[in-house]
Amino acid sequence: MDELLRCHRKEYGEKPEIICAAPGRVNLIGEHTDYNEGFVFPMAIDFYIYAAVSRRKDQHLKFYSMDYQDHKRANLSNLRFKKEDRWANYPKGVVCVFLAHGFPLSGMNFTFRGNIPQAVGLSSSAAIEVVTAFSLQRLFHLSIPAPHLAQLAQEAENSFVGVQCGIMDQFVSCLAREGHGLLLDTRSLEHRQVPLRLGNIKILITNSNVPRGLVDSEYNQRRAECEKCVDILSTKKPGTALRDFTPADLRDSMGLIPESTRKKCLHVVEENQRVRDAELALQKNDFVAFGKLMNRSHESLRDLYEVSCPELDWLVKRAWETEGVYGSRMTGAGFGGCTVTLIEKEAIPVYTARIEPYERIFSFKPESFLCEPASGVRVVYENTAHQ
Ligand code: GLA
Repeated sequence: MDELLRCHRKEYGEKPEIICAAPGRVNLIGEHTDYNEGFVFPMAIDFYIYAAVSRRKDQHLKFYSMDYQDHKRANLSNLRFKKEDRWANYPKGVVCVFLAHGFPLSGMNFTFRGNIPQAVGLSSSAAIEVVTAFSLQRLFHLSIPAPHLAQLAQEAENSFVGVQCGIMDQFVSCLAREGHGLLLDTRSLEHRQVPLRLGNIKILITNSNVPRGLVDSEYNQRRAECEKCVDILSTKKPGTALRDFTPADLRDSMGLIPESTRKKCLHVVEENQRVRDAELALQKNDFVAFGKLMNRSHESLRDLYEVSCPELDWLVKRAWETEGVYGSRMTGAGFGGCTVTLIEKEAIPVYTARIEPYERIFSFKPESFLCEPASGVRVVYENTAHQ
């Protein structure tokens, strides 16, 4: 943090007024359910994006990323998505959404730094959106309830960046609590903080390092397929999202819906049930049952929703074969990215040895790291001289 402070000062000749930190996330169960108004159960991880921010007297926005050593600039009166602005489109998008909602802002100087692995499905983009939204709220004394802050950050991703993601990532980055998973009903935004009494169990993330070229187009295609299916199902029974239908409804629609679409929708409908079962398992501290649900979730993402890939399947299988593993699955949108594994501490070296052949088989190296359930966005430094 000292370095971030120093860097902001060097870039802009002034101390930041505030430094905030927003976490990335790993989804434990409930995949591809959020944009179907279903249930998700992610947790924030102890990897963050930090933003140091100070207000300006003019309309300019200046952005500096310590990680990319890259400067970008914009103006409040002329905010547009620009491909060449890459990472800075996220904070620009958030500023643009705030203005569109009528929140009064001035120009600002931003310095960003982070340690969330990028573009591997751990929501570094949601974190930069959330840390920006939270900083604006604090600096301009805006009264915005946390769930709405998450929605504004999601809106930046949907309407400015152009990725039709659901609410899960931004929501958990805003509202997570340390030591807890967050059970979220993405329709009502009702949520519960569920304690993760892990004891000897660790949460191990393995980054497959698969290049993720397909993810956005496949994601939007899945989303469209789910919506098309709802159009058909709702001719027989009232409902506005897959959330409103059951496996029996899908069985009854055989012949009406193309088989590959029907399979995908079955994943969503059954995954919603798995999330609820997972919460019950945790209430009893039954990690065996919780782990089995994670495994079923992976099989379903692989066989029904078809968003896994050979590398993720291989990593998950090696985990399933390891004694001391409770459950393992791909996490996030898929087509590469990471797996998440609940594993006893002592079993980690065995798992690590098991996945050694990965590099020889797939020609890139996986990376594993532990994470802890962390808290959502917060202020980590405030320059009181400015208040
Ligand atoms: C991405 C999206 C989320 C969610 C997951 C899949 O992470 O940003 O909204 O849809 O994929 O569960």
